[in-house]
Amino acid sequence: MDEQLRFTVFSGKRLHIGVCGSIASYKALDLLRRWSDAGITSGVTMTAAARQFLTPLAFEALGASPVYTTLYAGGENDSLDRDIFPHLSPGASADAFVIVAASASTMARLAHGLADEILSCQALAFPGPLVIAPAMNPRMWSNPATRKNWEILQKRGHILVEPDSGRVACREEGAGRLAKPHEIYAAVLKALSPQDFSGVHVMVTLGPTREFWDPVRFWSNPSTGLMGASLAVAAFLRGATVHALCGPGAPWLPRGIARHDVLSAKEMYSMANDLWPTMDTGIFTAAVADFAPIPLGEHKFKKGSAENLTLRLTPNPDILHSLGRAKKPHQKVVGFAAETGNLEQEVRRKLSAKHADMLVGNLVNEPGSGFGAATNSVFIADAQGRSDYLPELSKPDLAWRILTWLCAL
Ligand code: C5P
Repeated sequence: MDEQLRFTVFSGKRLHIGVCGSIASYKALDLLRRWSDAGITSGVTMTAAARQFLTPLAFEALGASPVYTTLYAGGENDSLDRDIFPHLSPGASADAFVIVAASASTMARLAHGLADEILSCQALAFPGPLVIAPAMNPRMWSNPATRKNWEILQKRGHILVEPDSGRVACREEGAGRLAKPHEIYAAVLKALSPQDFSGVHVMVTLGPTREFWDPVRFWSNPSTGLMGASLAVAAFLRGATVHALCGPGAPWLPRGIARHDVLSAKEMYSMANDLWPTMDTGIFTAAVADFAPIPLGEHKFKKGSAENLTLRLTPNPDILHSLGRAKKPHQKVVGFAAETGNLEQEVRRKLSAKHADMLVGNLVNEPGSGFGAATNSVFIADAQGRSDYLPELSKPDLAWRILTWLCAL
């Protein structure tokens, strides 16, 4: 699983998973397992068609409890012979409901309130967030009836995970393939998240930059972009509109995040400048190269051409400093500092020198807190005079804590 989705804050949440008759529904088993690894417990409902492809036992074996298959208690193969109101149970116990894979008929039932079997009854009686991830033949998906039902469900405010395009199980090509599991996984985390960043426009810079000297050689650093990706994902889950300015090699991000891939510091600076006037918050995690080699030209440098080669460097623009200085009163700026010593002193100095509202520093030479590590332990200081050391946390959990701190600024 992608590291940037590994939040522990969802542990203890409860999910209800609806499964329809599609061969893609086998992926619900894998997702159930991933949610369970995050500490999220699940109940499952299988339609009659789903049971033609998969058995309740498969879900039970992976920890789902209960698994509903019929509206009426005591039915054959029903693990719920004492629950006389099975259609109301998920509504009373689950924090979110996801249908994966959703068939055209289940979508039609939901769009029109037709509650003639267990899954649609439970979904209609569910008051919380509903996530729908369909999968079907491309001709069924593009049929005007399905398009209309999708539009109705969209207008109703459900969290929809649009299918992908490509080759489907029946070997036809087109839109209708179930979205990638991590897209559905992230949509469910969003359904389980507080929406305290709703309406907030957040820009995150992440990853390294690459400063080319000749067409085949560049100056860079070992940043992986995991800290920035975790912040972009956490802000997205909590309802923000997120723009991610990604240096080369930055990790996968959910498709709900606007991703802008850039290469050099100058490209990142130019993109950040363009976006900044419409942003409320800027989070600058990118390990921007402070210097760029003066380019040699359009041809490759041949290794025999000079002895004692000297590389000349020029300073790059400081994106955080420049946007921090130009910020409007409603805009907030968060900077990061990768240090090798004097952590508190450097964090406080950069907080003021860069006109930041919050600065997060770590020691890159400590185990569990450097470039590419899955975890980080940091010292944070803010412009209101508050500061704290946060212990070693996974980068997604640290991102969650930073956003909570930012909310209170
Ligand atoms: O000055 P220093 O590079 O240590 O500052 C680190 C902070 O400044 C980080 O938030 C980094 O993303 C940002 N930065 C920047 N543009 C640069 C250099 C650093 O935005 N050219």
